[in-house]
Amino acid sequence: METTINIGILGLGTVGTGVVHIIDQHQDKLSHQVGCNVKVKKVLVKQLDKERDISIGEERLTTCPDDVLNDPQIDVVLEVMGGIDDARNYMIQALENKKHVVTANKDLMAVYGSDLLQLAAHHQCDLFYEASVAGGVPILRSLADGLASDRITKMMGIVNGTTNYILTKMSQEGRDYEEVLCEAQELGYAESDPTADVEGIDAARKTAILGTLGFSMPVHLDDVTFSGISQVTTDDLDYCDQLGYTMKLIGLAERTDNKVEVSVQPTLFPHSHPLASVNDEFNAVYVYGEAVGETMFYGPGAGKLPTATAVVSDLVEVVKNIRLGVNGNKAVAPQFEKLLKSADEIYAKYFLRLQANDKPGTFSALTSLFAQYEVSLEKILQLPVQGSDAAEIILTTHKVSKMNYEQILHKLEGLEVVNLIKSSYRVEGDEEA
Ligand code: NAP
Ligand code: HSE
Repeated sequence: METTINIGILGLGTVGTGVVHIIDQHQDKLSHQVGCNVKVKKVLVKQLDKERDISIGEERLTTCPDDVLNDPQIDVVLEVMGGIDDARNYMIQALENKKHVVTANKDLMAVYGSDLLQLAAHHQCDLFYEASVAGGVPILRSLADGLASDRITKMMGIVNGTTNYILTKMSQEGRDYEEVLCEAQELGYAESDPTADVEGIDAARKTAILGTLGFSMPVHLDDVTFSGISQVTTDDLDYCDQLGYTMKLIGLAERTDNKVEVSVQPTLFPHSHPLASVNDEFNAVYVYGEAVGETMFYGPGAGKLPTATAVVSDLVEVVKNIRLGVNGNKAVAPQFEKLLKSADEIYAKYFLRLQANDKPGTFSALTSLFAQYEVSLEKILQLPVQGSDAAEIILTTHKVSKMNYEQILHKLEGLEVVNLIKSSYRVEGDEEA
């Protein structure tokens, strides 16, 4: 085999090390698949003398980005360094130098993805980013290739491993949020600052990427409304369970006609729903297509080798395209104008938990308010609060517009019989949801 495709890698941390490991270990399989040798020529790092899990040879390490980006012998750049500004500048430089790019960077793709895809198309380069959503789960390729002939109407994803781990341990073992978060950090699932995980920002980035690809619209991180799990309590999870639900942090991208909703929020699923049994750090994305119906993609959402597998699979596709001379020919840049749904166009069912006076008239005040907005209630649970004359009321609604539900919440806060609204979550997955 005479031809060699040279790779430059930006970053040799968790994912970069995994990439080098897979390219080394699977060289025979890779060469067989792509019909040529694939060689790592240079790797950009911050610190040359850092101790590493992999031995790559000093001569291949550099701290100078131009050694990768301006080397005419390097055909493909793998960006696995993370961050936004440097990574974006290096990717632009690589594309302008006609190098194909593979990235795992969700922070970057959620904000600059559409621009970078256009730049790649302009230079007839490939830009693939499978590892940016759900790590080792090949969800982006499935949307772009496997489901290419279908019209995607809805995607619901557990796309953050840290929060799924926390919710699983809190609900199944009754453990406290803080304790399980520390454990998720120790296990390496969480970002270095876990705020992005627990406040839903990491999931929002991934959902923006899913929305952009699934709907072929330039969905930006700013278009995603998001909330996380930092306020969720074990009591909330107990009540959900009593009503037959499991809570998951869900990235939702839904299209009705040509308008889309893209959001992230803790969401309740009936215990029987497939997403309810996706536990621990695992990810899953549920996809509805008009023709295919329902499909679900499941697997490890983070970690060295699962994420590196996705990066190397993208690399294989790039190299196959080089051999065929068809890089940049895929319709990767978004095709349609983005139209976002307003709050009166978004319909959902909700779970509501509040504390109210335990006295005559309380229930009628509550139900009159819901009736005023023509919302009927589906399930209701009332429990006395020990040592007080208050009651805890937990209910679920039938479908209501987001606009009306927000008005109901606002008016509930002003009702004399209501002491405190404790929590409220979206409900999915029942037959009418
Ligand atoms: P990491 O362990 O922190 O590694 C980052 C690497 O990039 C290090 O080798 C570092 O060099 C190098 N680097 C960072 N900034 C640099 C700069 N300005 N110039 C030169 N080198 C620089 O990160 P990671 O966990 O591998 O993540 C990499 C990317 O993959 C991120 O975009 C992340 O969001 C994404 N991702 C990660 C996972 C995961 O499970 N870890 C999953 C999905 C996606 P030194 O080694 O010299 O410090
Ligand atoms: N912190 C992320 C998670 C890593 O928990 O899913 C993978 O993107």
